[in-house]
Amino acid sequence: MIEVQNGVFHLRESGWSYLFRATERGLLEHLHFGAPVSIQDAPALAVKPGMGWGMAVTPDEADGALCPDTLPLEWSGAGRGDYRESSMEVWDGDVPLPAEFRYADYQIFEGTARLQSGLPQAGGGLQTLAVTLRDGALPLTLTLYYTDFGGVLTRRAALKNESHRTLTVRKCMSWCVDLVGEYQLTTFDGGWIGEARRHVTPVEAARVVNESTTGFSSNRHNPGFLLAGKGAGEDCGDVYGFNLVYSGNHYASAQRSFQGLTRVMQGVSPALFCAVLAPGGTFETPEGVLAYSGAGFNGLSAAMHGFVNGHIIPPAWRYRPRPVLFNDWEGCMFDFDQRRLLELAGRAKKQGAELFVLDDGWFGARNSDRAGLGDYGVNEKKLPEGLGGFAGKLAGLGLNFGLWFEPEAVNPDSGLYRAHPDWAIHQPGRSDLLSRHELLLDLRKEAVRDYIVDSVTEVLNSADIRYVKWDMNRQSVLTGAAAHEYILGLYDVLRRIFAPRPDILLESCSSGGNRFDLGMLCFSPQIWCSDNTDPMERLQIQGGLSYLYPQSCMGAHVSAAPHAQTLRATPLSTRGNVSFFGALGYELDLKALRPVEAREIKAQIAFYKAHRDTFQFGAFSRLPAPEGWTGWQVRSERETLAGFFRGLVPAAPGIVKLRVSGLDNNRRYRVRARPQTLRVGDFGNLVKYLSPVRVNPDGPLLRAADGLYALPDGREDFTATGAALMAGFAPAALFTGTGYDKNSHNQGDFGSEIYVISEERGHD
Ligand code: DGJ
Repeated sequence: MIEVQNGVFHLRESGWSYLFRATERGLLEHLHFGAPVSIQDAPALAVKPGMGWGMAVTPDEADGALCPDTLPLEWSGAGRGDYRESSMEVWDGDVPLPAEFRYADYQIFEGTARLQSGLPQAGGGLQTLAVTLRDGALPLTLTLYYTDFGGVLTRRAALKNESHRTLTVRKCMSWCVDLVGEYQLTTFDGGWIGEARRHVTPVEAARVVNESTTGFSSNRHNPGFLLAGKGAGEDCGDVYGFNLVYSGNHYASAQRSFQGLTRVMQGVSPALFCAVLAPGGTFETPEGVLAYSGAGFNGLSAAMHGFVNGHIIPPAWRYRPRPVLFNDWEGCMFDFDQRRLLELAGRAKKQGAELFVLDDGWFGARNSDRAGLGDYGVNEKKLPEGLGGFAGKLAGLGLNFGLWFEPEAVNPDSGLYRAHPDWAIHQPGRSDLLSRHELLLDLRKEAVRDYIVDSVTEVLNSADIRYVKWDMNRQSVLTGAAAHEYILGLYDVLRRIFAPRPDILLESCSSGGNRFDLGMLCFSPQIWCSDNTDPMERLQIQGGLSYLYPQSCMGAHVSAAPHAQTLRATPLSTRGNVSFFGALGYELDLKALRPVEAREIKAQIAFYKAHRDTFQFGAFSRLPAPEGWTGWQVRSERETLAGFFRGLVPAAPGIVKLRVSGLDNNRRYRVRARPQTLRVGDFGNLVKYLSPVRVNPDGPLLRAADGLYALPDGREDFTATGAALMAGFAPAALFTGTGYDKNSHNQGDFGSEIYVISEERGHD
């Protein structure tokens, strides 16, 4: 809800309040972002500068307290006495312009004020406040938009050139705010196969920056970040979360002033940025997202997850179950034909998959990543019946069909490139910078966008395609405003292809998680988190993303072990257990599985389907866990599912307690560990002690048994009150080297369990 009284603006929800006011001099003074308060509290919340600080630069010398440098503000000017980082920079030719925006008026709209520039935007806002500011000396109008989404608010800015001169915008942030206090900044950084690693940096006197200049939101620095107050933990304390509905170069900074104000801002990266603002033209920033929780990081994540699921994901896929998919990439790479694919599809169907995804290599001369990208004519040697025929065969098996594209890039060795070399991005007078043997197409050009829309549309119309994986495997060489225009071109293409096909499930991918952002999520309900599917790595990658993004949007696949990315061998049970906390898929050569593994996968998929709603849309929390363990939980009205994951286990491991959250203290719950199995071969030489007859552990008999038989592992089934489960229950023992017990957890390193916790009926 938005209320306005005597120049005070208040966005108020059950969990937070955001207040600011127009001062007598027309500056927008930030008053409060945090626990819910009343609009009448404004005077109590306003900072009291007293006689002001020494060296103040103010528009009125008689009143040192008016110094803009020491006020908490909603926006900042340039060259007008606020010496902190400015949220904008406008130039007239080669002259930087001072700027000082003063409050003019405001408007409140029901719902959301629509962006005009083609940038994507969250849907279903409750109310929008538009505050107009003008510069006394420059013909520029700045409008700050605030939209209330219930759980979070969004902010964006629009700068209009009211003059007759062409100006240039070198920087214009989506939002800027000054918070009182000391904070720790959490960012999610990394690179290929190491996305979303969590880093914590104190915000002090030197500015800290979270930025991407690769042309995309990048795997280096996710646009989403957090600011946590002192003492904040997963379930307590003040935490702010911020994100940007944008897929290109982004920038955020935080810095604490001498007076103790932490200035935070976020928007399109100003690096080499220079956008032309024609007379009468408006520069619109992407929409920024701001959230607050007084209940720690988990509280913040809940607000962000609700916002993404309810307002960012395309309407046709909001809270719609994501299918269990099989993707042929890691199992086949480029080496397949219809016969091999159908054999895999038959097995995938038997295991319980619902969708078969044909990844790279199905078109033109695309038999490696060196050639053919851009030519989306089906390779008839591999698929003699075409895509329609292949999709028909899949339908006959009871599987839906999904297809891979990488429409933004081209191999120089391709028909498309030979016909239109000028459609690729080149830098005049310089050699091309190739990456994975490809160049990007110039999505700023209408002809290129039309080609992509037409070629992808033709394929989509040629067969019953229910899912598209939209890949993009390199960084850009475009900078600044050119990179921004590219992203606007991308959004145009995505909108034209997929708006008329809302039921196609789009999964975005960029060498894994190189473009995991809210801009892409406005088109694609899920994103491939990482090419790294090692579950120990995924705990970090999915765990990092979980701070800002819900499980439903994380593509999470089980692949073979030892892992292609780490060479680490991990139990199949753990590969499944980690992937359950996302949109589950399988990506391995099913033909190479032992029968016992095939049975385990079938059981995994059946389990996931039985709990799919809770896994994909349940309330997610990171649980407190013993040293070296990770705990995740999802909770729905029906049940709580808690996963505990271990790293290396010591010999004779000690006793631990496991804690879950969100239960009712007084109710009684039944707790069952998901039934898991062990392979006979997991015991190595020890197996001879398990067998009643003498056997050679490396002989043919046990090798055959290893493929065929499984041993039960870690059976647990008990009841307890919510109070006990939240205080910490003692799980079954880990393997202690003294013998096999089916009621202990015997997986060794990297083992894990999922507990299904449901209320016992009839016990109050
Ligand atoms: C990179 C993606 O991340 C992979 O999943 C796969 O689709 C390959 N591209 C195909 O070239």
